[in-house]
Amino acid sequence: MLAARLPGGTAASRRGEAVSAGRFAILALIVLNVVCPTLAGDVVRTFSDSTGTEKFNHLVVDKNTGRVFIGAVNRLYQLSPELELVINEATGPKEDSPECSVLDCPPNVVKKLTDNVNKALVIDYTTTRLISCGSLFQGTCNVRNLHNISDVQHEVKEAVVANNSTASTVAFIAPGPPNPPVSQVMYVGVTFTGNSPYRSEVPAVSSRSLDKDKMFMIAETAVTTGTRMFVNSLARERYHINYIYGFSSEGFSYFLTTQMRNAGPSPFISKLVRVCHDDENYYSYTEIPVECISEDGKTYNLVQAAYVGKPGSDLASDLGITAQDDVLFAVFSESDQSEGEVSSKPSQYSALCVYSLKSIRRKFMHNIRTCFAGSGSRGLDFISPSHPCVLTIACSL
Ligand SMILES: *[C@@H]1O[C@H](CO)[C@@H](O)[C@H](O)[C@H]1NC(C)=O
Ligand SMILES: *[C@@H]1O[C@H](CO)[C@@H](O)[C@H](O)[C@H]1NC(C)=O
Ligand SMILES: *[C@@H]1O[C@H](CO)[C@@H](O)[C@H](O)[C@H]1NC(C)=O
Repeated sequence: MLAARLPGGTAASRRGEAVSAGRFAILALIVLNVVCPTLAGDVVRTFSDSTGTEKFNHLVVDKNTGRVFIGAVNRLYQLSPELELVINEATGPKEDSPECSVLDCPPNVVKKLTDNVNKALVIDYTTTRLISCGSLFQGTCNVRNLHNISDVQHEVKEAVVANNSTASTVAFIAPGPPNPPVSQVMYVGVTFTGNSPYRSEVPAVSSRSLDKDKMFMIAETAVTTGTRMFVNSLARERYHINYIYGFSSEGFSYFLTTQMRNAGPSPFISKLVRVCHDDENYYSYTEIPVECISEDGKTYNLVQAAYVGKPGSDLASDLGITAQDDVLFAVFSESDQSEGEVSSKPSQYSALCVYSLKSIRRKFMHNIRTCFAGSGSRGLDFISPSHPCVLTIACSL
C-alpha cells in the first residue's frame, strides 16, 4: 500500500534529498513502526474461504482478464475480477513421505496425510497457463489452463520448489536461454531443505524450461555448468538463503534475499542476486549487499517484501531517472533485538527504501570492475571458491 502511494509523491519522496545508504543511494526512507491500519471503509469487495480454515500463500491477477488466482494450503482458487468464487480446487492433503521420489515410493515407506502448501503461483502469458507449485511430492509443479484451473495440462515429476511449509521459494517468468528475449524461462530461487537423493540436486537458483517437451527441467545444462547455482555441499546444511522477491529488468533477472554475511556464523544481511538473461552457464551470477539505513544510522538489515514498478513523475525526477525506468521498492526490518543481527527473525521496526534500477546496475558494474581490477574477492565462499569472475556489465541483448 505504501509502495503504491509513493509514486504519487509523498512528503518523504518529494523532499528530494538523496540519502546515501552506504552501498548505494536511496531516495526515500520511511521508518514504520505501525501495523497497517485497516481502511475498512475503503474495502470494496472481499473473498474468504467459506470454511475459513485455509491459509492463503500467493495471489496473482491476470493482467488481461482481471481474474484473480489464489494459492493456499491444500487449495487453489479461481475468482472473477469481482472476487466471486469460480473454481475451488483441492490440491491436498495427500499421502506422502520425504522418502518417496517424485516418481514413486519404495514399498516399505510409511506415508502419511500431508498438507500441500502452495509455494509458487505464476501466470505464463505466452501459453495462457497457470503454473502452481506445492510442497508435496518433493516440491513439484503443475501447469493448468488459465481459463479453468481444474484442467491440469501437465503434472510434472520434477522437484522444483521447497518441500516444506516454511522454506522460501520465489518463482517468476522472464527471458532466458536458449534464445532471449524470445524464449522465456521460469527463474526459481529455493532455500535448501536438507540432503537426500531427491532434494540435493535442487539448485538454489535456476532457470527452468517452459517448453512442453522439457517442462521445468533446467533450461540449459552441460557437464559442470548450466542455468543453475548450488550452495556448495559443505555449506548448504547450515548456510540458508531466504528468497524474498524476484524480478526481471533490462536483460537481467534478480532475486532479493536474506542470508548470512559469509559462510561462518555472521550477521544476517540482505542481498541482490543477479544473472544475465543470455547466460547459459550462470557465469554472470553476482551478488551485492543491499542496505537500508535511516538518517540516525539505524540499519534495517532484513528485506521482508519488495516490488518493482515505474515511478511517478515526481519520484522519477527526484531519482534522476525517467518515468519509464524501473524502481525497486523494498520494505526492511531490523533483526529481532533480543537475538541481534545474527538472527533472521524480524523485529517490529521496519523501513521502506526506494532504489532506482539504474543505481543498482551502476553498483553491480562498480563491484564487477573492482573484482576485475584484482582488488577484493567475489566473497561467495558458500558457493564455489573457484567460480570465475566474468565481465557481465552489459548483456549482449
Ligand atoms: C473446468 O474443467 C472441468 C474439467 O476439467 C469441468 O468439470 C468444469 O466444469 C470446468 N469448470 C468451469 C467453470 O468451466
Ligand atoms: C524435505 O526434504 C528434506 C530432504 O529430503 C527432508 O529431510 C524433509 O523431511 C522434507 N520435508 C518434508 C516436509 O517432507
Ligand atoms: C523447512 O526446512 C528448513 C530448512 O531445512 C528448516 O529450517 C525449517 O525448519 C523447515 N520447516 C519445517 C516446518 O519443517
